[in-house]
Amino acid sequence: MLPLCAQPAGRVLFNEGWSFTKDGASRVLDLPHDWAVEGEFTQEYPGETGKLPWWGQAVYSKTLQVSKEDLEGVVRLEVDGAMSGAILLVNGQEAASRPYGYASWAAEITPYLHEGPNKVEIKLNTLPESSRWYPGGGIYRNVWLVRSPAAGVAHWGTYVTTEGDIVNVEVTLRMKQPCNGKVTTRIQGYPYEATVEGALYDGRVVKMRIETKGLKRWSPSDPAVYIAETTVEADGLVDVYETPFGLRTAEWRADGFYLNGVKTFLKGVCLHHDAGALGAVWNQDAWVRRLLKLKEMGCNAIRCTHNPPAPEFLDLCDRMGFLALDEFTDTWTWPKKENGYAKLFDEWAERDLVDMIHRDRNHPCIIAWSIGNECGEQGDPTRWWVPQMLTDICHREDPTRPTTAGNDNPWAASQDYAGTIDIYGFNYKPHLYAQFRDTHPGQPFYGSETASCISTRGYYRFPVSDVKSEGWNNGAPFQVSSYDLYAPAWASCPDYEWGYEDQVPECAGEFVWTGYDYLGEPTPYNLDLSVLTNFHTEEEKAQAIAMFESWGQRVSMEPLPSRSSYFGIIDLAGFPKDRFWLYQSRWAPDVPVAHILPHWTWPGRKGEVTPVHVYTSGDEAELFLNGKSLGRKPREGYRIRWDDVVYAPGTLKVVAYKGGVKWAEEEVRTAGKAKRIVLETDFVGEELVYVSARIVDARGTLVPDASNLITFKVKGGAQVIATDAGDPTSHRSFRETSIPAFGGMASAIILKKGEAFTLTAESKGLSKATLKLISEKYLSSSF
Ligand code: GAL
Repeated sequence: MLPLCAQPAGRVLFNEGWSFTKDGASRVLDLPHDWAVEGEFTQEYPGETGKLPWWGQAVYSKTLQVSKEDLEGVVRLEVDGAMSGAILLVNGQEAASRPYGYASWAAEITPYLHEGPNKVEIKLNTLPESSRWYPGGGIYRNVWLVRSPAAGVAHWGTYVTTEGDIVNVEVTLRMKQPCNGKVTTRIQGYPYEATVEGALYDGRVVKMRIETKGLKRWSPSDPAVYIAETTVEADGLVDVYETPFGLRTAEWRADGFYLNGVKTFLKGVCLHHDAGALGAVWNQDAWVRRLLKLKEMGCNAIRCTHNPPAPEFLDLCDRMGFLALDEFTDTWTWPKKENGYAKLFDEWAERDLVDMIHRDRNHPCIIAWSIGNECGEQGDPTRWWVPQMLTDICHREDPTRPTTAGNDNPWAASQDYAGTIDIYGFNYKPHLYAQFRDTHPGQPFYGSETASCISTRGYYRFPVSDVKSEGWNNGAPFQVSSYDLYAPAWASCPDYEWGYEDQVPECAGEFVWTGYDYLGEPTPYNLDLSVLTNFHTEEEKAQAIAMFESWGQRVSMEPLPSRSSYFGIIDLAGFPKDRFWLYQSRWAPDVPVAHILPHWTWPGRKGEVTPVHVYTSGDEAELFLNGKSLGRKPREGYRIRWDDVVYAPGTLKVVAYKGGVKWAEEEVRTAGKAKRIVLETDFVGEELVYVSARIVDARGTLVPDASNLITFKVKGGAQVIATDAGDPTSHRSFRETSIPAFGGMASAIILKKGEAFTLTAESKGLSKATLKLISEKYLSSSF
């Protein structure tokens, strides 16, 4: 797969054939690799760990063949991310170390090399109690080998900014010897370029100004990316470096965010870095699929919580059209976990932050640097120098973008703390938007985390209560009702957030927690005894138990099964939950949406009140049960509710209207007995194919409670590499090729190995399904 990123010529993937040693066993594998997702789920592990074993020590090693010519130039290893505590050894000598597992880093290894075979080793050591969510384990992103001439562009050595049609390029040089030479930057495919000639020396920053005409402005709806190609010519040596960039203005004004002068509401989601069944492993196809689905929902922005993402993720945002907040860390000096980033802050914070900015500052998608999330310093005036220092570093390294942070301490918002960051991010405090606007005239603000609504796809609980803590049992089945009314104490349903957004049009936008479910943090089922290990004294533990109980959550004496979150708008397997259509109806109002919930297969509920909610981009709707109208109602708030519907099997149909004209309709039917499996390709990427299986009755209606075991088999050039059905309590390994359907559905991830293959899905008592796939082109035209 070709990288999209900024890169020098002579850069190649260095992913294949590493020897991996952990717990005394060795084997050969290709990167990226996450050792933890290969492990077994263990009920006894705390929920936040994802119940997978990501801590521990491991060594990756590989032989690097080096020629005489290589030694005359520069050889560099670039590691996009290694979790964590990395030490790089070349022929036994330490060449670099980088403790932060989300940092990208590089090391010039020429001084440690000799002609012939050389040994490269990366040792990792991830401490337990170092993360609030599943971080993964291992070299989970790409590793690159760069062979460059002795003179050229430094690592991350270009900085492209634009002013109207002017493209300014700063090139930092790396030179073994000073000499006279020439630096040229041209816009690939266009007759625009600039050249600087003269003395070239190590560390010199060469500034160029390129006049262009007619280049398009970058935006989510038309994400025009150009490539600045820089050539350094010195003493007969030539180095070439490509920098993708875009032309756009991004302004945060007091009354909102403006892109290219147009007010643009940030319809954003927060995303952790795991890709569900693939674990923390970076895979471009997995993320293209995920981002396409978010685009369909009307999402135009991503907050990369709470750490810098894989570099290619930002390239996808550039090319698929998403605005992005690039985030530094979840903690500054105040620890959240015993072995978290606070331990590294003093020694590494500046280096890690500067590297993030240098790596990412050419991306048109990035509209602010997020320096942190819910950091304890908010409440401690003696430590407000910390965010001020981080903001100053960002301004120094990139004067073109402001800083922001996710803040949860309501007191801090009214204090001088607010002035230490440029754009104020509120986590779950929409009731403070108006006050902040009035007390901080001129300072832009937005919802850096909103909603945190929790639900399980296809699971509904009766009677339906509007009390946000009443959507789940305090025990089995460890699922949360999907009426989208439920949230933990600090959070809310989407409707509540929107009420405030609509009253305060100066709010620049929101980032929903979260776009997708993620591994770890299975609130409200993360309160087994293990959470109390976070509290050190008996008194602290008692206070914590009382606090959880006041939130409607009980600390269980038993380990709980839940291992992934309930926060996602889309589940871990990539299937949308009901609120996908709630967000779509608000964020993509031109898409005709009418979505009914719940499903209509309730054998035990005949004659019982079964509320029906409809999400629509229309303004009124009429509901019919078995052909009989249950009334036409205007949309009040953000959904239309028929709370008194008495269940009878059959057909439930909604017809939505907009301005009095029919706009959209949907029908749900009571399912009969499960009869067969229906297979559909859900996404075809360059190397992965995602296939979904649905269990249906004789008429093709999804059987919503079907949990039949589905076995996937492939004939031909492909392999089933993972399965998932989106059940947050499942302890079945993602590697199994058979999986019980959850809510009637399951997903298989297939690695293509040849041109064509046939996939079958079988289950006892159901007729089997077959899907033939011939090689299809990568979907580059779709974004
Ligand atoms: C926030 C936090 C997120 C996540 C979320 C769950 O307070 O910043 O990382 O934990 O709560 O609601």
